Amino acid sequence: MPTILVIISGSGTNLQAIIDQCQNGTIRGDILAVISNVPDAKGLDRARRANIEALTLDHRDYSSREEYDQALANLIDSFQPDLVVLAGFMRILTPGFVNRYLGRLINIHPSLLPKYQGLHTDQRALEAGDSEHGATVHFVTPELDGGPPIIQGAVPVLPDDSEETLANRVQREIEHHIYPIAVDWCLNQRVQLTDKGVTLDGELLPSSGFQYNAKPN
Ligand code: GAR
Repeated sequence: MPTILVIISGSGTNLQAIIDQCQNGTIRGDILAVISNVPDAKGLDRARRANIEALTLDHRDYSSREEYDQALANLIDSFQPDLVVLAGFMRILTPGFVNRYLGRLINIHPSLLPKYQGLHTDQRALEAGDSEHGATVHFVTPELDGGPPIIQGAVPVLPDDSEETLANRVQREIEHHIYPIAVDWCLNQRVQLTDKGVTLDGELLPSSGFQYNAKPN
C-alpha cells in the first residue's frame, strides 16, 4: 500500500476524514504517522485513538524557520512516505522544504482558490457578499496558497451565516469529502503535477481543479 504522512496544527477534522477512509478502504493507502507543531493539538489524540504514531515537533524549540523546516524534513524522511498531507498546518513553509517534496506535498485551503489566499477566508467571503464559498486541495509550491489546484468544491453562503456557520458548512460538506478523494488520487498516481498543470488520468484539469459537486443533505 502507498503511504501518507499527515502534518497538522489543530483539531484535525480533516485528518479524521482521512483516517476513516483509510480504515474503510476508500483511500487505498496507510497513514505512517501524524506530526503536529502544536503539542496539545486535538488531532494528535485522533491519531493515537486510531493507533497511528503521533509526534510533536514544536516550532518554539527552533530559532529560525529554516532550522525548523530542516528538522521537519528529517523527521518526515525517516518515514519515507509517498505523500505528505498538510491538514490544517498553520505555518508558512520555506521554499527549500516545499521544493524537496514538490509533486508529493498537498494542502487544503478554505476558499475557492485563487480567491482569498492567506487567512480569515470565511470572514473575507462574507464581507465581499459572495454567494458561494468553499475549499480547494492543491499541490504546494513556494507561492503561499498559490500551487495548482487538484479539486475544489463550493457551498452556498446563507443570509444569516456567521464566520463559524460558514466555516463549519465548508468543512463538513466540502473539505471532509474532497481531501480523501485528492489523497487517494495522488497515492494511486491518478493525479500528477506536470509543468503544464495538474492532470487527472492523463487529462489536464481546469486551472481551478476538478469541480466537486456537494451532495445535498
Ligand atoms: C481547515 O478548515 C483547513 O482548510 C484550514 O484549517 C482548517 C483545519 O481544520 N487550513 C488553512 O487555513 C491553511 N491555510 P482541521 O484541523 O479540523 O482539519
